[in-house]
Parts: sequence; C-alpha cells; structure tokens
Amino acid sequence: MATRTIETNLTEEDVRIEGSLRPQYLKDYIGQKKAKETLKIYIEAAKKRNDPLDHVLFYGPPGLGKTTLAGIIANEMGVHIKTTSGPAIEKPGEMAAILNNLQEGDVLFVDEIHRLNRQVEEVLYPAMEDYAIDIMIGKGASARSIRLDLPKFTLIGATTRAGLLTAPLRDRFGVIHRLEFYTPEELQTIIMHSAKILDVKIDPKGAAELARRSRGTPRLANRLLKRVRDFAQIRYDGEITYDVAVDALNMMDVDKMGLDHVDRNLILTMIHKFDGGPVGLDTIAAAIGEDAGTIEDVYEPYLIKNGFINRTPRGRVATGTAYLHFGIQKPDENADGITE
Ligand SMILES: Nc1ncnc2c1ncn2[C@@H]1O[C@H](COP(=O)(O)OP(=O)(O)OP(=O)(O)O)[C@@H](O)[C@H]1O
Ligand SMILES: [Mg+2]
Repeated sequence: MATRTIETNLTEEDVRIEGSLRPQYLKDYIGQKKAKETLKIYIEAAKKRNDPLDHVLFYGPPGLGKTTLAGIIANEMGVHIKTTSGPAIEKPGEMAAILNNLQEGDVLFVDEIHRLNRQVEEVLYPAMEDYAIDIMIGKGASARSIRLDLPKFTLIGATTRAGLLTAPLRDRFGVIHRLEFYTPEELQTIIMHSAKILDVKIDPKGAAELARRSRGTPRLANRLLKRVRDFAQIRYDGEITYDVAVDALNMMDVDKMGLDHVDRNLILTMIHKFDGGPVGLDTIAAAIGEDAGTIEDVYEPYLIKNGFINRTPRGRVATGTAYLHFGIQKPDENADGITE
C-alpha cells in the first residue's frame, strides 16, 4: 500500500496518541447514533437480567471506532476484556485455552475476525452457542470427544471485510452493526475534544476545516490534528485557525474533500484510461498497482459515500461529481449536446 497522510489504517503514530483519546464510556462516544442507542438498550437489559451481553459483530472501514466500542462495552458491562485477533490464533487449542481462561461475563474481542482459520473458527461455534467446547482426547480408535463447559462470555468481533465472514460464524452473532462514516459536525466535536486533551489551541473554524478533510474517520481526524499542530507551532504562533488548517492540509496534499494522491490516481485513472468506466475492480487494481481488496475496503467506501465513484453491475464508474471535482469535462455530456 502506498504511504499516505490520510492512511486510515492504524499506524505507529496513532498507537501513541489513541490510548489517551479513546472514549471509555458510551456517553463520550460521538456519532454512530443507531449503534449507540441499540447497544445502550442491550447493555441495560443484559445487566438487569444479570446475563452476559449477546455476541456483537462490528464491521466497517478502518478507524471508525470498532475497537473503541468493544472497550466501551466491557466498561459499561463492568467486565474484563481480553483482546486477540484472527491472524494471531493459529491452532484450535490456542482458542480453546483463551476461552477457558475467561471469567464469567468477560468480553473476548477478536479483531480482524475474518482472518481466523477454519479449524479455529469451528471452536467458536459451540462456544458461542452453548458456552462449551468439544475436545478430542486419545488417538485413533479410542479417540473420543468430551464437552467442556465455559464461563458465559460475550464475543465481540470486528472486521473491515464482512463479506469474507463465513455464514455459520456470522449467524452466531446476535447483534451486528455496520459503522458509518462520521459527519463533519461529529468530527469537529471529536477534534475539539481531542485538542483539549492534547492541549492544542484550535478555533472552531480550524477544527471544522480539519473535520471536512478527515474523510469521515475519527482516527484520521486525530492524526491530522497532531500534524497540523506541529505545523502551527513552527510556521505560526501555535494556534490552529482556519487559515493555518488550510495551509497545512494543502501542504500535506489533502484536498478540500479529504482526497489525496492515491484517491486522485484512482479516479483519474478511471477517467483517463477507461473513459470514466464502467471498469472492473481487478482492472483498476492492475492499472494503479494496488491490491483489489484494499481498494474495495479502504479507498472506495469513502469515494462511493461521497459520490465520486459508483458501483454498477458492469464495474466502477467515475461520476459527474468526480469530473467536476477535477475540473474535467465529462465526454457524455458533450456527446449529448451534439446529438440533441
Ligand atoms: N465515536 C468516537 N468518538 C471519539 N473518538 C473516536 C470515536 N471513534 C473512534 N474514535 C477515535 O478514533 C480512534 C480509532 O478508533 P478505533 O481504533 O476504534 O477504530 P477501528 O474501527 O477499530 O479501526 P481498525 O479497523 O483499524 O481496527 C480511536 O483511538 C479514538 O481516538
Ligand atoms: Mg480496531
């Protein structure tokens, strides 16, 4: 993947700042109104019944708050959270050991859950359904399976690629939420709040400009805030105003809509090499030298959400908005004019 300022995947820099900026309780979690409201009800109900929360699956593009929500659920339920990830667990026995070490009510958070291998995943089926695991003992003809009861727990899964989840696993989640991109207003609130924690001086207009260019993603908003702060300290008097934000973001090659060189390359390739499409995902991927899955899950969602690209049955199409954004005349419109 190309390096980009607006990388929404977790970077080393984020790890250092995210810890302190991560909201700990639902009341501090901005946006995602639908997910928040339903979770609140489920959490209250489960607590009243003294039951663990139903298993929850979060999916959506990177940096929208899946891990954050998992932590919040554990805090709200007043239980421990044990965190692991799909690729980290190689053998069924490792998963069995993790499950067996949980305490009653605990949350097990499995990040990148679509990357669990099949045998490990199969351990989860009875665990999620019956709070039990089946272990094989002995070998050959004398082998038999015994069932071991587990503490009641809540599995929280997160994935950027819900499409890669197997049906049996997906079906075992009682609650499934897709996280949405944040509105500029929500991001502005998050930025103002982060600025307070990081002791950065920023005015609301500066925050609004950062928010507009953060492609709907809190992780990116926080990262841009830090970068622009450095810029404000060196080039200006330290405060992030509208002018400072514009100046800094332009220099960082993040345009008015939050697009950077990778987005531009993607859209302009569609326009110049494929007449705006329709063009297949794999063809675009080959043309710009990127992985198709990365384009689909990381680059495209924001571009589709903002109407730069459309997915059609015949492939991707660059929209009128895209042509307009780059100041390029759309060929169709020309042709229409002539045939009229
Ligand atoms: N609703 C929110 N309110 C305030 N800050 C948020 C919110 N959601 C996310 N953040 C901030 O964005 C950062 C990234 O969120 P998080 O790590 O939860 O994303 P993610 O969806 O798990 O990403 P990935 O797919 O890469 O694992 C958090 O550390 C937090 O600072
Ligand atoms: Mg995460």
